[in-house]
Amino acid sequence: MTVLATAPARTRRSTFFPNLRRPLYPAIKSESVDPVRNPYAPGAGQRPPELAGRDRELQQFEVVLERVARGRPERSMVVTGLRGVGKTVLLNTFKSMAMQRLWGTGKIEARPDQSIRRPVAAALHMAIRELAPRHRAPERIEEFLGVLKAFAMRDPAAAKGTSHWSPGIEVPASRGRADSGDLEIDLTELFVDAASVATDLAVGIALFIDEMQDVQAADVSALCAACHELSQTGGPLIVVGAGLPHLPSVLSASKSYSERLFRYARIDKLDREAADLALILPAREEDVEFTQEALDALYEAADGYPYFVQAYGKVAWDLAPRSPITLDDVKVSAPEAEEELAVGFFGSRYERATPAERDYMHAMAQIGDEPVPTSDVADALGRKPSSLSPARDSLIKKGLIYSAERGLIAFTVPHFGKFLRAQPV
Ligand SMILES: Nc1ncnc2c1ncn2[C@@H]1O[C@H](COP(=O)(O)OP(=O)(O)OP(=O)(O)O)[C@@H](O)[C@H]1O
Ligand SMILES: [Mg+2]
Repeated sequence: MTVLATAPARTRRSTFFPNLRRPLYPAIKSESVDPVRNPYAPGAGQRPPELAGRDRELQQFEVVLERVARGRPERSMVVTGLRGVGKTVLLNTFKSMAMQRLWGTGKIEARPDQSIRRPVAAALHMAIRELAPRHRAPERIEEFLGVLKAFAMRDPAAAKGTSHWSPGIEVPASRGRADSGDLEIDLTELFVDAASVATDLAVGIALFIDEMQDVQAADVSALCAACHELSQTGGPLIVVGAGLPHLPSVLSASKSYSERLFRYARIDKLDREAADLALILPAREEDVEFTQEALDALYEAADGYPYFVQAYGKVAWDLAPRSPITLDDVKVSAPEAEEELAVGFFGSRYERATPAERDYMHAMAQIGDEPVPTSDVADALGRKPSSLSPARDSLIKKGLIYSAERGLIAFTVPHFGKFLRAQPV
């Protein structure tokens, strides 16, 4: 039996309770894998205890930040990948990196039924609030806030009755800038002004957009145009996105030059080494180890998908009586982890589909786990492809499936086909 993780010399526990440790811990047999100290974190956007296997993306973003700050031409980044692969977590890490460089940052989560105007205004407000205390000329900040307010107030939804957007901007809205009502013009002007405030401080501004595939078509186009304009003037403001694998095609359908605006980083499941590190390193912090066989079994179950790594790791930890966590512990805990995934990860998404959409997905699952031709789905259901378009389109809108390439369709959720095949039709 090989034990991979070795205990560090000094533990946190002994630092905090030097007097308690010796007499009590040997007496409490299950202490070594204490559920209270379980480090694993399955959940949407939950910061993992160890961000494994993303060094390349972090380095790339480091370069982006550095180049933008120096006014060098640079494409911004867009992270894409399947559900639960770690896009939100990576975006949040990028945000922290920008904040460490004293950049102003703001983040939005796009929704299919909402214009980005107000969320962008709120996010840039946050970014400017981060910069304001360090700015020597308060009137520059006030001037920008006036423009920001005018921009936000042009929201079409704001025109009817509830016209007052009150984000805590005390200054009066200015006139004649970023308030034309045309989002493309307004965003461009707003970005240029925000970038100019950041330039005063020799920093930049980063606007993060999660679930970017859900930005409405007209807004995508305006956003790309504004980024394009900004990239030409060299203003230090970048839009960093994250979304499902078809996001690049959403962007290029809107503006053909989008490939030149964004560097796409497709993130995928973790390789064996990274998946092991994601489990071992947090455990080592708590003096807990895994046997090699346990790691083999965990990799086989989780298949390297970050969400699954956290989910299986968490239950194995909770059920293991002592360190090291063994193959038996993993075997005993796997059904419980699967049950939790079936409810929380797969079930919650399945619930969102209508009966017709479920039929469509079951047909997909029966055909196989690779992207499947839409015509095969129609054949399997004995229907005309055109009659299935509504179900397919709304599944895409709900983010459950995506069009991998023309005529092909795939699940956005890893292992979803397997889950569906285990469900009664
Ligand atoms: N690099 C990583 N190493 C270990 N665990 C990770 C890593 N990235 C993400 N995770 C874990 O995976 C889970 C999913 O992460 P996250 O919510 O960021 O995924 P996502 O791609 O945004 O999913 P969705 O498409 O559903 O929004 C979280 O529990 C997180 O802790
Ligand atoms: Mg996410």
